[in-house]
Amino acid sequence: MLSNFYRRGPVPGLLVFFLSMIITIHAGAQSKERVSMGNIQLNFWLDDAGRPTYSVTFGEKPVVLESHLGMVLKEDSSLFRDFELTGRESRTADETWQPVWGEKKSIRNHYKELTVHLHQKSAPGAWLDLVFRVFEDGVGFRYRFPKQHALNYFIVTEERTEFNMAGDNKTFWIPGDYDSNEYPYSITKLSEVDNRQMVEQSTDIAVREAPDRYAVQTPLMMKTAEGLFVNIHEAALRNYPAMQLHVNKQLLSSSLVPDALGNKAYLHAPFNTPWRTIIVCDKAAAILDSKLILNLNDPSLAKDPSWIKPTKFVGVWWEMQIGKSGWNYSDFADSTNKQGQLIPNGKHGANNANVKRYIDFAAKNGIGAVLVEGWNTGWEDWFGKWKENVFDFVTPYPDFNVKELQRYAKSKGVELIMHNETSGSATNYERQLDTAFRFMRNNGYHSVKTGYVGRIIPRGEHHDGQWMVNHYERVAKKALDYQVMVDMHEPMRPTGMHRTYPNWLANEAARGNEFNAFSVGNPPAHETILPFTRLMGGPMDYTPGIFKIQGYSSTPGRQVHTTLAKQLALYVTLYSPIQMAADLPENYEARMDAFQFIKDVAVDWDDTKILEAEPGDFVSIARKEKNRNNWFIGAITNENKRTAALPLDFLDKGRRYKANIYADAADADWKANPMAYKITTQIVTSETVLSIPLAAGGGCAISLVPAP
Ligand code: NOJ
Ligand code: CA
Repeated sequence: MLSNFYRRGPVPGLLVFFLSMIITIHAGAQSKERVSMGNIQLNFWLDDAGRPTYSVTFGEKPVVLESHLGMVLKEDSSLFRDFELTGRESRTADETWQPVWGEKKSIRNHYKELTVHLHQKSAPGAWLDLVFRVFEDGVGFRYRFPKQHALNYFIVTEERTEFNMAGDNKTFWIPGDYDSNEYPYSITKLSEVDNRQMVEQSTDIAVREAPDRYAVQTPLMMKTAEGLFVNIHEAALRNYPAMQLHVNKQLLSSSLVPDALGNKAYLHAPFNTPWRTIIVCDKAAAILDSKLILNLNDPSLAKDPSWIKPTKFVGVWWEMQIGKSGWNYSDFADSTNKQGQLIPNGKHGANNANVKRYIDFAAKNGIGAVLVEGWNTGWEDWFGKWKENVFDFVTPYPDFNVKELQRYAKSKGVELIMHNETSGSATNYERQLDTAFRFMRNNGYHSVKTGYVGRIIPRGEHHDGQWMVNHYERVAKKALDYQVMVDMHEPMRPTGMHRTYPNWLANEAARGNEFNAFSVGNPPAHETILPFTRLMGGPMDYTPGIFKIQGYSSTPGRQVHTTLAKQLALYVTLYSPIQMAADLPENYEARMDAFQFIKDVAVDWDDTKILEAEPGDFVSIARKEKNRNNWFIGAITNENKRTAALPLDFLDKGRRYKANIYADAADADWKANPMAYKITTQIVTSETVLSIPLAAGGGCAISLVPAP
């Protein structure tokens, strides 16, 4: 029967529901809905024009002032006004769940939910629900299009979500670019946001498309004049484009990444949009502790996740980034001999002997895996051609023996990590996907690093548009089916989807350490901002651990913009279940005392304590290794030296621990003397407060092991 099929709407037959709808209209219209949890209060109402409107306060302090919500559709260009409230529901949830891997062993999901049912009084009379979840550290809300007569298949031309900030906040932002998240951060007031210069000067980013000079990317981190920390992002981005924010003084409004035709999303009711998230805390550390985004994502789809394993890895990679070797076997695609075989250029990194050298190094040092890039044919003209069929993902270069290297790696207890660069040609990758994953399964690969450098094919689509958002999820899903773990480079920035796909271990989706190899690099404040911005959505494959900070490049002045000790600290401060030891084996072999920290540090955790943090200035974090009693601490600073104050009150009471402290030497400085470190040990207890000087651009890494 039709009326049963349609969940709600002006369909006669569901008498009970219809009655309650009328009662709610009578009781609810124009009145304010109010939901509070701790300091957070959400207000919702319809204004005089029937516009859905909300505000958020923290205690007495306004955070988001009166802001409007709504949609513009091809089918209904004013789905943002003339609404009546036809019903409301509320409920409370308090549950605890265990992630497959993560920063903590278990996560509490505690919220109050308010759903309002809205009906547009004018034609076509569409129905729209808004679902709000209020947590102790913020608010999430989403649009829900119920199944209805008035809307079936429809096209979103713009989402009209406003975040009307209560002040001209200090803001940490990158440009709202449809194709790249690989910018350095700017720190300005909201009213000073203008991305034009940054976009124009960032010639080291492969594809840039940022038509709105006042648009910024999320997660957007802000600090109010009253000392509140506010983070705006989204959760569970599926079948919808990424949301960027257009900044008009203090008013932020959603700006969805368009498709090739300028449309934003093609939807079919019933449909839930991603959650819009506003995290608000009075301490910066609490922002880093927030699990709001993960909690708004769907539970894991992995039925038996026992094959999903966090790991550290090395790779035939940095040597390519710094030009010591190359991805390509030949100099040109047409550089062939009479038999049609490629003529080697003598610089190919992924050759059998070199790969074995990395496998040996990994095996000797207890590193679980080796990434090999440039192993497959196609690298002679992979970049910048916008060509569709670049790689086939299964054909190795002649000097890379798939079977032999797998046998060798296995004999040494090391995994090899597959590399699938798509060059932005997602159509080609989708056609090859089964072939590529079958190849992995047949050849013993359990993880893959993918990449999307270049303009997207289908031509006209963007990295962050709906088509590609669906593509990344298709890849994650296919990988789950084949029991393969994934690390994506250059996808849209994450939104907590690793809860749903725990095999989607990490993404790059930001400016990684690699920019120190081939560009002006990452300023010393960069890694103190990333946890508050990009990492709010999920783990990052930043590729830390560069020991040879200077002298790897022929370009004068090019260097990593940290001290060596800070590179160690990043293993703790930049959370990821996969962490690369990115430098060359010989650079580690020259400093095995410092490399000991990388050997020891864990990648999966029972607990995490944010010890001190201020975006753009410093971050100190302690984490407890999964199923062990060891703790690890990372403390980093920006371009200013400072002393980290690290209370160890999280340690077991009455227990003695040996602290191995990897600190900047007294004369260390990220620019003048970055490789000067000193390693000391001391016995500590939960009563100890360590006070450790950090050099300009420096850091400190500590391992804490129960003392016998
Ligand atoms: C960009 C990735 O971020 C990098 O890690 C990779 O080496 C290159 N693309 C080539 O795929
Ligand atoms: Ca990249």
